[in-house]
Amino acid sequence: MNEQITADAINAAGHLTIGGCDSIELAKEYGTPLVVYDVSRIRSQIRAFKRVFEENQVDYAVSYASKAFSAVAMYQVIKQEGGHVDVVSGGEMYTALKAGFSLENASFHGNNKSYDELVLAVKNHIGVVVVDNFHEIELLGQVAEELDAHVNVMLRITPGISAHTNKYIQTGQVDSKFGFDLESGQADQALEKVLANPRFNVIGLHAHIGSQIFEVAGFEGVANKLVSVADHWQKKFGYQAKVINVGGGFGIRYTKDDTPLPPEDFVDAIIKAIKKAVEPTDLGTPAIWIEPGRSIAGPAGYNLYTVGSRKDLPGLKPYVTIDGGMGDNIRPALYEAEYETVLASDPQAPLKEHVRIAGKYCESGDILSYDQELPETKPGDVLAMLDTGAYGYSMASNYNRNPRPAVVFAEDGQSQLVIKRESYEDLVHLDQPYELHD
Ligand code: LLP
Repeated sequence: MNEQITADAINAAGHLTIGGCDSIELAKEYGTPLVVYDVSRIRSQIRAFKRVFEENQVDYAVSYASKAFSAVAMYQVIKQEGGHVDVVSGGEMYTALKAGFSLENASFHGNNKSYDELVLAVKNHIGVVVVDNFHEIELLGQVAEELDAHVNVMLRITPGISAHTNKYIQTGQVDSKFGFDLESGQADQALEKVLANPRFNVIGLHAHIGSQIFEVAGFEGVANKLVSVADHWQKKFGYQAKVINVGGGFGIRYTKDDTPLPPEDFVDAIIKAIKKAVEPTDLGTPAIWIEPGRSIAGPAGYNLYTVGSRKDLPGLKPYVTIDGGMGDNIRPALYEAEYETVLASDPQAPLKEHVRIAGKYCESGDILSYDQELPETKPGDVLAMLDTGAYGYSMASNYNRNPRPAVVFAEDGQSQLVIKRESYEDLVHLDQPYELHD
């Protein structure tokens, strides 16, 4: 049996349950493909992160990186858990506002924030703008002036640390589009500029080294680097950083080959590294912020699909095709990401064959899984792909004009639709007929 499915996630009928709800019933009620979140897992991960900070008695923010999964319902849950969020676009800010989430508890990230986005952020009293480049310093200065506002800012630096992860999701190495470079003196120049603007309150510094990282060393490295920069800034400019934000990136288990530490153990190591690094300095203990996305949303999510066609080839793994694919989960095609999948009606059924789980999109690379051991399956069976909650729905597309799936939150045995399934009408509602020339 799949080791990720615990005995309490199987009900009397032998079906997989999610948030106490029968997955087969969910598939029937809402249709497939369907994204289901076990809300209690979102909550428990946020609480686990908070607990580590509280046990270590440091000021902190657990800032959920909402690019992992952004929806009104998600911001509501984060708000209820007393969390902070990281937003990277006007759309994410707008969604948070729709959820009644105060942007005072949000950090605004991005390497090319637009004037309009900065206006939206500042008008809504954004908690902090994580300033990424010189253009933004000017633009934000202009916006603050026009709106007669004061803005908290934090400088994003490129720490020169390259995390051991897929190259598409590395961000901390020197040759990166994000943040101010240290070696060339850009970060110092940026600090001088933001300190010189009386409309800015410079609260600290930030770095993010990548995503799906398994080694603690990368995080200890970034913690040490940020403290050394803060120390240098204090000595050179008399500037006292109040916040050190080490970003996100805590790796999660997708398959049995992944053996990450519990996400909160990374945080424990970061806190210890920062406490040790500040000892010989005059920095005191700064507040420590983290920005976990995947580790909060990922393990909480399941994608339910219905099996349709099948292609058998002599001597090759069969293609078992489901009713979704790269439109609802681009990660296998984009990053060669791997997942584990179970038969929802009987996750304990003896495994019979290795198959490829193919999507329905017109593209040979639309394979969600290249080697999944499954029991015998037939058309109509429901498959549950595990740990799909991060960067699945949030990267979904309408490729082939397939509607995006519905999203359901399940908790305490009750389910609620939180994002409707797109209809064909939704697909054409932005289209305008072209007035054909005769
Ligand atoms: N903070 C910053 C500044 C980030 O850029 C990111 C992710 C995070 C926090 C959250 O990282 P996490 O804890 O989720 O690893 N689409 C890719 C992941 C891109 C991550 C982008 N930045 C994927 O599907 O793997």
